[in-house]
Amino acid sequence: MKILVLNGPNLNLLGQREPEIYGRTTLADIEAKMRHHAGQVGAEMDFRQSNDEGQLVSWIQESRGHFDAIILNAAGYTHTSVALRDAIVASGVPTIEVHLSNIHAREGFRRKSMIAGVAKGQVTGFGDYSYIMALDACVNVNASR
Ligand code: DQA
Repeated sequence: MKILVLNGPNLNLLGQREPEIYGRTTLADIEAKMRHHAGQVGAEMDFRQSNDEGQLVSWIQESRGHFDAIILNAAGYTHTSVALRDAIVASGVPTIEVHLSNIHAREGFRRKSMIAGVAKGQVTGFGDYSYIMALDACVNVNASR
C-alpha cells in the first residue's frame, strides 16, 4: 500500500521548537523511523511538509488514485482549516489525524479539530510514536477495505 504523510506549519522546526511540548526529535528523525517501520509492514511512503495551507490542500486533492491512505498532522491548521477538511472529503482517501502532543490536554482552542470529523481516527499525545501508531492504523484500515 502507498501512504502519503503530510506535515503542516512549523513542523519543520521540530527539535528546536518548544521541546518541552514536542520533544527533541526532528522531522527528519520521524521520517527515518517511519521509513524503517513502513519497510517492516510492507508499505510505501511519501513524506512531505509545508507551511502553506494551499499546498497541503493541493497535495490532498492530488492524492486521489495515487495513495491508499493519508497520515495528516495539520499542526495549527487542525484547529482552523475548513479547506483542509473539505479537501479530505473531496479526495475520498482515508485519512488519519496525528499529533505529537495531546491536543485535548492543552489550551481550549486546540481541543477543537476541523479534521477529526472527517478522519478515520485520531492519534494524539504519544510524541513521534503517534506517527508509528497512525502507520499501523493505515495498514489495518487498508486490510479491512
Ligand atoms: C500539533 C498540535 C497543534 O495544536 C499545534 O498547532 C502544532 C503541533 C502536534 O503535533 O502536537 O503545531 O499538531
